[in-house]
Amino acid sequence: MSHNTFGHLFRVTTWGESHGPAIGCVVDGCPPLIPLVEADLQGFLDKRRPGQSRFTTQRQEPDQVKILSGVMIDDQTGVQVTTGTPIGLFIENVDQRSKDYGEIRNAYRPGHADYAYDVKYGIRDYRGGGRSSARETAMRVAAGGVARKVLGGVTIRGALVQMGPHKIDRANWNWNEVDNNAFFCPDAKAAKVWEDYLDGVRKAGSSCGAVIELVADGVAPGWGAPIYGKLDAELASALMSINAVKAVEIGDGMAVAALTGEDNADEMRMGNDGRPLFLSNHAGGVLGGVSTGQPIIARFAVKPTSSILTPRRSIDRFGAETEIRTKGRHDPCVGIRAVPVGEAMMAIALADAFLRHRGHVGAGAGWPSRQSE
Ligand SMILES: Cc1cc2nc3c(=O)[nH]c(=O)nc-3n(C[C@H](O)[C@H](O)[C@H](O)COP(=O)(O)O)c2cc1C
Repeated sequence: MSHNTFGHLFRVTTWGESHGPAIGCVVDGCPPLIPLVEADLQGFLDKRRPGQSRFTTQRQEPDQVKILSGVMIDDQTGVQVTTGTPIGLFIENVDQRSKDYGEIRNAYRPGHADYAYDVKYGIRDYRGGGRSSARETAMRVAAGGVARKVLGGVTIRGALVQMGPHKIDRANWNWNEVDNNAFFCPDAKAAKVWEDYLDGVRKAGSSCGAVIELVADGVAPGWGAPIYGKLDAELASALMSINAVKAVEIGDGMAVAALTGEDNADEMRMGNDGRPLFLSNHAGGVLGGVSTGQPIIARFAVKPTSSILTPRRSIDRFGAETEIRTKGRHDPCVGIRAVPVGEAMMAIALADAFLRHRGHVGAGAGWPSRQSE
């Protein structure tokens, strides 16, 4: 199975299965002399960790990350820093219970990768889905922590803005609320509604989908490349690579279809600080595939958890028809734990774009430096 790497200059390669002894990743291309310790990564992993509320799977994984390579104590400062060599990150799997999955050894779970993997490889890891399991996303989150260090002054935040049919009221958006509820919801009122809604979904043994919004503040203008290296295309690829993601939007996304040219144009003025000032951000911070210096805004939709208690019709690998009902431990709304994963993928895509921009044009180019010539 190839294609386990994301990125060009800042490259993340993950390895490991849901029910193997451990998972890990190699972060290649991280610049040297960046302070990096395990605690820099652990906070993000703790956000993604399962078993933290009744609304997420009860699988108990401490997800303690270890840095195996690519760092050392800098003699001059006494601080542990990156050396510019590959950074190996490692997390042990401690709560794998293969017996939960015995029944699906031969049968294909609808909505999962089971049939697709079997038809492609002729073998699949039925113990929790192997590589297709979202266990792999823990390594994305760890690597995303390294990417954030590379990005320095950039802030990347994510929030759940829709659960099932219930959207937040954007007028109530408060970033401080995101860590006050079990859903990473920025609207305290909506979070209350979601509690009852998701309890009902969970007790019915069902599941629901969600929409997550990501915002990156502090991205300098100029990142990304035209044509095949568009920043929005790379962000879409990063987010679409997350398990269960079925749609990605940048800026106003699908809603642009209903706007007029007048409404959609992000008009420009000169700000008091002598820098360009955009009067709106329908573009989501990217024009022509290149960042404009406005916040980068992306949204992605996550499908309802496929593993549900209600029996679903399927077939097995011998061609016999059967029914499947999932008895293992699962999330009623995988969109919740997808929030830190989305943030991580945005960080990885942006760190890669930043390093390539720096490599390609150096520090000297950019507006308005050439205006006086
Ligand atoms: C953080 C996270 C946790 C997930 N947990 C589950 C789960 O408990 N049960 C499930 O059926 N799917 C879960 N998924 C989704 C599946 O991994 C995914 O739907 C499946 O591998 C098929 O891939 P696809 O939906 O990308 O086509 C999760 C996804 C994410 C992002």
